[in-house]
Amino acid sequence: MTGTPSRIFERLEQLYAIGGGPGANRPHPSPAEDGAHELAATWMREAGLAVEVDECGNLLGRSARSADVWVGSHLDSVPRGGRYDGALGVVAAIEAAERTGAGSAVAFRGEEVGCIGSRALCVAGLGLPRAFLELHVEQGPVLADAGVPLGVVTSIVGYARAELFFEGRAGHAGTTPMEARDDALVAAAEAVLRIRDAARGIDSAVATVGQIEVEPGGSNVIPSRARISIDARAPDADRLNELVRAIGFEPGQLTAPAPMDEGLRALLAEEIASRGLPAIELPSGAGHDAGILAAAGIPSAMLFVRSMNGGVSHSPDELSSDEDVALAVEVLTAVLARIARS
Ligand code: GLV
Ligand code: MN
Ligand code: MN
Repeated sequence: MTGTPSRIFERLEQLYAIGGGPGANRPHPSPAEDGAHELAATWMREAGLAVEVDECGNLLGRSARSADVWVGSHLDSVPRGGRYDGALGVVAAIEAAERTGAGSAVAFRGEEVGCIGSRALCVAGLGLPRAFLELHVEQGPVLADAGVPLGVVTSIVGYARAELFFEGRAGHAGTTPMEARDDALVAAAEAVLRIRDAARGIDSAVATVGQIEVEPGGSNVIPSRARISIDARAPDADRLNELVRAIGFEPGQLTAPAPMDEGLRALLAEEIASRGLPAIELPSGAGHDAGILAAAGIPSAMLFVRSMNGGVSHSPDELSSDEDVALAVEVLTAVLARIARS
């Protein structure tokens, strides 16, 4: 294996530091996300790429050859996120475009809040790539459990998101008898449990309530209003529809499950196998920009790097080894070189 320049890891550290700790804090939209895009634009120029920002705020660094083959990911993060989620895919893309002198490196806006940038790009439908590759950490334990560094993604999970609101009646916490209350937060809490049970009832489905807001928010006031978020996911359209029906909500955002392109998957698998490694295939339970591009008909594929620490992600504990990252960048670069030739 050739060594990966330490600049990959230095760049990941620079991005990680942008929003202030603990963890990565580059939500969309924010000055921290803007700062990450500005830094990546500088790296793109250093790599000899011609930098553009599209109407959606996505950042593109074009090389002189086969610029319609895009490689990249996102630079926004969840609150208190990890070093690798999204950032690795952008840093690796710049590396691959520089090493091959081909393709374009892309950083999409707002992946964590619904793939804002890639979705807007696909809706606009202008200047779309001929193919898209995304390198990403697995964010789960499958590769680590199998003892292999890299995996090829078969398909990306579908997900439905929404907000639910519960109305009650504010009152005094000390003087209102329990049977006389209309407590919005209690209604929301019951819904949280129903959501969990609905997902448990469907094979491989998951559902999460990650946000809750209570009004008026006094410790001695019965809540009059509560808002919760729902993030519901399933590996195929039938199970996603079943889950949405079982929970009983109207999705505000619906992303269909997206199979990855077979030809590109085969190229990734060949490059992995040619390095004497097993080419494991696995589905992605996380959403990705590659899923949005694939749904828009653009041949897309993803390479996963083994996650350590039990596969934890969306957490500062997210970890992949330098060796695995180096190998992943090599494979990504080799596949980019092959697509750029074709
Ligand atoms: C993106 O990280 C997601 O929520 O799957
Ligand atoms: Mn990501
Ligand atoms: Mn993420």
